[in-house]
Amino acid sequence: MRNLLLLAAGLLLLAGARAAVAAPETVSSPSGTLSFSIDVNGEGRPDWMLTRKGDIVIGKSRLGFILADAPKLERNLEIVSAERRSADTRWEQPWGERRYVTDRHNELTVTFREKTPLKRILRLRVRLFDDGLGFRIEFPEQPNLKTARIVEELTEFDIAEAGKAWWIPGGEWNRYEYLYNRTPISEVGQAHTPITFRTDTGLHLAIHEASLVDYAGMWLRKVEGQRFKARLSPSGTGPSVVRDLPFTTPWRVLLVAENAPALTHAADIILNLNEPSRIPDIKSWFTPHKYVGVWWEMHLDTATWATGPKLGATTANTRRYIDFAAKHGFRSVLVEGWNPGWDGDWFATGHDFDFTKPTPYFDLEGLSKYAMSKGVRIMGHHETAGNIKVYERQLSQALDLYQRLGVDSVKTGYVADAGGVQAPDGSFQWHDGQVQSRHHLKVVEEAAKRCIAVNPHEPIKDTGLRRTWPNWVAREGARGMEYNAWGDPKNPPHHEIDLVFTRMLAGPMDYTPGILSLTGRGGTPIPSTMARQLALYVLIYSPIQMAADLPENYAKHPSAFQFIKDVPADWSDSRALAGEVGEFAVIARKDRNSEDWYLGAGTDDTAREIWLNLDFLEPGRLYAAEIYRDAENGPGRFTTDFRNESRSNILIQQLNVAKGERFRIAMAPGGGMAVRFRAL
Ligand code: NOJ
Repeated sequence: MRNLLLLAAGLLLLAGARAAVAAPETVSSPSGTLSFSIDVNGEGRPDWMLTRKGDIVIGKSRLGFILADAPKLERNLEIVSAERRSADTRWEQPWGERRYVTDRHNELTVTFREKTPLKRILRLRVRLFDDGLGFRIEFPEQPNLKTARIVEELTEFDIAEAGKAWWIPGGEWNRYEYLYNRTPISEVGQAHTPITFRTDTGLHLAIHEASLVDYAGMWLRKVEGQRFKARLSPSGTGPSVVRDLPFTTPWRVLLVAENAPALTHAADIILNLNEPSRIPDIKSWFTPHKYVGVWWEMHLDTATWATGPKLGATTANTRRYIDFAAKHGFRSVLVEGWNPGWDGDWFATGHDFDFTKPTPYFDLEGLSKYAMSKGVRIMGHHETAGNIKVYERQLSQALDLYQRLGVDSVKTGYVADAGGVQAPDGSFQWHDGQVQSRHHLKVVEEAAKRCIAVNPHEPIKDTGLRRTWPNWVAREGARGMEYNAWGDPKNPPHHEIDLVFTRMLAGPMDYTPGILSLTGRGGTPIPSTMARQLALYVLIYSPIQMAADLPENYAKHPSAFQFIKDVPADWSDSRALAGEVGEFAVIARKDRNSEDWYLGAGTDDTAREIWLNLDFLEPGRLYAAEIYRDAENGPGRFTTDFRNESRSNILIQQLNVAKGERFRIAMAPGGGMAVRFRAL
């Protein structure tokens, strides 16, 4: 025994001696669940690795860069120093899925230097949480590298275990608006992030990025087996990224969770990796809210954006929406088609858009005043058709106009059929390239100066920048409800469940739910039930939630509409209670301004019964559960058919419940359940 101990001590000494002169450097997460190591191989090439409870999650994966005008930065490197730090803090969100976010991580910073005469320096900063990690490369100021022209980032993720992946294609013309592929991990092609994986032993992983600032968005390309490589969104004018030193890359993020619900909680890492808020007074001018709008009728094609007999954005029609909003407690009214530029082929170039004045049919001044007199605001709209050259030229004036009229939020849009935009220098640029990452922040910063919140459609993906810029309140960035008006196919029921465990890991989405008519263009049926439309307000988070249907449709369904009126858009806590990617999801959220809880559940095209314990409720308190459920013909039996009226069969019940009680959720195919737990 004594010999064994001596031997063990000797091995430890050896290991210690080796670590003092060379890699690997390692860091573990606060509870020791995850362990990260970084090494340089015989050629001086850095490789990183991740284990979870001793099992390899990510095998040896490369780091490095190919530069346009300088030798590549990826080998002949040595580790010259390593520093460690820890954090265990909690910070408050002005609005969000939860009021307080915990940031508990261990950090390792490793400095690499080239052994060759250039002696260029890179720094790897890694933050290890118990449910994931972020790392980024920092380019400090140095004599032999002044400007980095990055054509390729060599960052890799070699997923060790076989499994399934949920992903949309990266670098395609329709940006992020695709249905999710579900394939073996080894069959992914080139994907956008977040991309979600479930390994054969049930581990859930997601890869994304945090704090995408002045850099190209990262796509992931499967290289071989299960090894993925970063591919930077290309630029139309040269290298993907051009930056003067010093600068840092965005954080490359890997979430690691035991099950699908836990993955949604791990996503707090993305917020933690972003810088604190630059708008300390945001709460005094942005409050989460619900809105209605002159919108769905254009998607139904019963009204038009273009001027003419079917124009939706008329003064009279907008007054009707303002009255509706005031009567039912909606805070704002979105109006699309209020400005010149929609006539003709507006998709084509966006040359004709004018953001500084309304059409003759829309009394912008009078309507903003009328809205304000009723406690409602107009929500602005800037559709650019991807012409950021035209938009940036008018940006200050356009935002000044809104500020003067009390229009304190704006939906922007970048519809352009080639997945890209026309940049100020006239070049073509991808919607998620470096140019567009700069553009979006420019709009958000200019809007912040004028106390205006921004909600881009066809955006760059969310990477948690709402922490730094909390006026960047939502975005689209996925197939939204509009596809249920005119899409072919429409969003199948599994799509919204896919979103919960993929796109939604990135941040809020302006999905625009609440189509109680359940019909799209020409009366075509939407593959959803009425209860599911209500559940979406809880399942798909956004601090601005639209009641997207026509006022006359809400008038037909007053009881179901009540839930839309009641459900908050701001939460003090959120808990994913159950779910499987693409199959079903159950989420409970606590209202930020009361003691009430809300629950949303949704299923794919399979009917499902789920039993839950109401553990999230406060002990010793009674709640009136107001339940909106798919009507059954008998326990677990549904006649719901997406092609006929039965999908509107909703049953509204009241039941008193308390913490710990068993609670039954039963959902029709494509259905869901929405519950308000009103604290008594
Ligand atoms: C696409 C957006 O997603 C939709 O909401 C908007 O109505 C149209 N573009 C027109 O801007």
